[in-house]
Amino acid sequence: MNLSVHGVGKSYGRVQALTRIDLELEQGMFGLLGPNGAGKTTLLRILVGITRADSGSVRVDGKDVTREPGRTNLRRRLGYLPQEFGFYPEMTAAQFLDYMAILKEMDDGSMRRRHIREVLELVGLREDADRRLKGFSGGMRRRVGIAQALLADPDILIVDEPTAGLDPEERIRLRNLLAGLATDRLVILSTHIVEDISQTCRNLALVAVGEVVYDGSVANFIDAARGVVWELRTADGASPPTGWTQVATVAEAGGVRYRLVGEGAPAPAAIPQPASLEDAYVWHMRIKRRTHP
Ligand SMILES: Nc1ncnc2c1ncn2[C@@H]1O[C@H](COP(=O)(O)OP(=O)(O)OP(=O)(O)O)[C@@H](O)[C@H]1O
Ligand SMILES: [Mg+2]
Repeated sequence: MNLSVHGVGKSYGRVQALTRIDLELEQGMFGLLGPNGAGKTTLLRILVGITRADSGSVRVDGKDVTREPGRTNLRRRLGYLPQEFGFYPEMTAAQFLDYMAILKEMDDGSMRRRHIREVLELVGLREDADRRLKGFSGGMRRRVGIAQALLADPDILIVDEPTAGLDPEERIRLRNLLAGLATDRLVILSTHIVEDISQTCRNLALVAVGEVVYDGSVANFIDAARGVVWELRTADGASPPTGWTQVATVAEAGGVRYRLVGEGAPAPAAIPQPASLEDAYVWHMRIKRRTHP
């Protein structure tokens, strides 16, 4: 299974949301990382066919999902959890999924019930099938959202910021769930939370102001920030270094300890540090701003 995005561009009036996106994705978990307004949601909506691109193509196994014929069949292979997802608080999980299954034109009632049992099992909510959604925690609601995306057993699961607003345990649970689902599917996880990606994805794309800034392995992404991360301790009253990005600032007895990202040592006493994914994110964004201010 292969998802190929070629030359995709999109403007909303004068706002250029996506400039020219090229991506090649295969089975496994893929992270789509980028700051607010980068264009992540726009790209995902184009992938699932809700938004039409101004230019370019999206192909699943070589077939264009944006064009007739066969478009509808191809879309069935895509499951989508939108960033803003509306629930019906009075419905139980099973009723809600039944409703979503009907919207997806799953007409056979017994098949629907079987599918609903399966997806509830997959997301760990079988025991909660008959509870009303209004009593569900944020993490449980996201899992119901993932369950509805899985209803037609898609090859490609696209989830837009599913971990936003969740507490650490719920977040870990959700990303483990997604990683499990990625063993026999392509899962595209959009997020601006760096740890979500470091813990689950082998490959990622960093998108900023509508362009792909980086596309490749997480390991190479981090490797690119080798030699640009520093720790510097300054005495009380000393002014903070300028020109480097402060990734961490910790007040200590007698001074301040900084973690800094930037080219060249900020001071002779600065100690080079191994880069984390977060440092690498900051570094790639610095390069982006320097070359396209
Ligand atoms: N329907 C729309 N009409 C006008 N502008 C839009 C529309 N949707 C998105 N935009 C603009 O396109 C750009 C990309 O937005 P998008 O929602 O795709 O970013 P994002 O990466 O998903 O951001 P976030 O992390 O905040 O969800 C932004 O400048 C946004 O204001
Ligand atoms: Mg978004």
